[in-house]
Amino acid sequence: MVTPRQRRKFRTVIVLAGIVAAMLTLVGFSVPLYRLFCAATGYNGTTQRVADDAGKISPRVVIVQFSTSVAPNLPWRFEPVQRSVKVHLGEEKLVYFSATNTGTTPIIGHATFNVTPPKIGLYFDKIQCFCFSDERLAPGKTAIMPVDFFVDPALDKDPDAKDVNTITLSYTFFRATKPDDVQNLSRFDPNAPPDPERGARLFAERCSGCHALDRVKIGPPLGTVFDRAAGSVAGYPYSPALKHANVTWTVANLDRWLTDPEALVPDNKMPIKVLEANTRHDIVAYLEHLRADRAAATGTAGAPVR
Ligand code: HEC
Repeated sequence: MVTPRQRRKFRTVIVLAGIVAAMLTLVGFSVPLYRLFCAATGYNGTTQRVADDAGKISPRVVIVQFSTSVAPNLPWRFEPVQRSVKVHLGEEKLVYFSATNTGTTPIIGHATFNVTPPKIGLYFDKIQCFCFSDERLAPGKTAIMPVDFFVDPALDKDPDAKDVNTITLSYTFFRATKPDDVQNLSRFDPNAPPDPERGARLFAERCSGCHALDRVKIGPPLGTVFDRAAGSVAGYPYSPALKHANVTWTVANLDRWLTDPEALVPDNKMPIKVLEANTRHDIVAYLEHLRADRAAATGTAGAPVR
């Protein structure tokens, strides 16, 4: 026989269990949520840059040093390719780290990073890096991993940071205990074939702040950009430079555009570059792929319909 008191107790236990379950779910989702947040807001240095510092490269120079370490149970050699670089505040810089799996089995590692002095962390913006993801490396293989960053020019306005000339970026690789959404470090291999699926993710992170596929945002729509003439979407307010550029968006021209828009079309108004070559290949493969999808949808590709 269950008394009303026992029933009330039972109800309390159920409610508490529900709260605990909800908390665990939130913890479990926090990394994907973080990624979602980045993709939605372009926090990783895309829209944020347009709003406040596009084209503003400060004369102030800082030295960024790199340091690396590896957890004792991870048989990887992990080193910065360059010990340090000098950068102007606001200047985007690409640096590399090298990891070698000296063990005999594929291993999944996970990097964490740290910026010192700690008060600088706020101003250190990474556009692309291998942090937060679980990375697989085959035995005996070496991966050269890019990190694309800039130091926010707002640093110059912070009285507490007047004395800062040197910033240290440290990475530590750990063995991933519960791998999730594992990525292969071989994606950074310069001979890797272009990967349109990765390109779609990179597009969401790095382009979608300004570009949609099928409508005008800050930039023109890109769903049909492949093989299109530059500056040709009716109703988009192009810069005169791009409108009159005699360029067709082929693989080679898209790659040149993303490497340095200013070098391909001087005085255009796209404010970003994509410094890392594999990232460019994958994004361009995705844009090309969209064209293939479109052709398939309208029946213009493949066998003629009888
Ligand atoms: C901060 C905003 C911004 C971001 C981020 C951005 N773009 Fe752009 N993009 C623009 C603007 C603005 C233009 C138009 C430039 C002009 O008129 O001179 C443009 C133009 C282009 C064009 C020319 C299209 C045409 O119709 O001629 C291509 C291609 C392009 N962007 C590709 C990309 C890709 C790929 C990415 C992601 C790696 C990207 N953009 C990220 C703002 C951006």
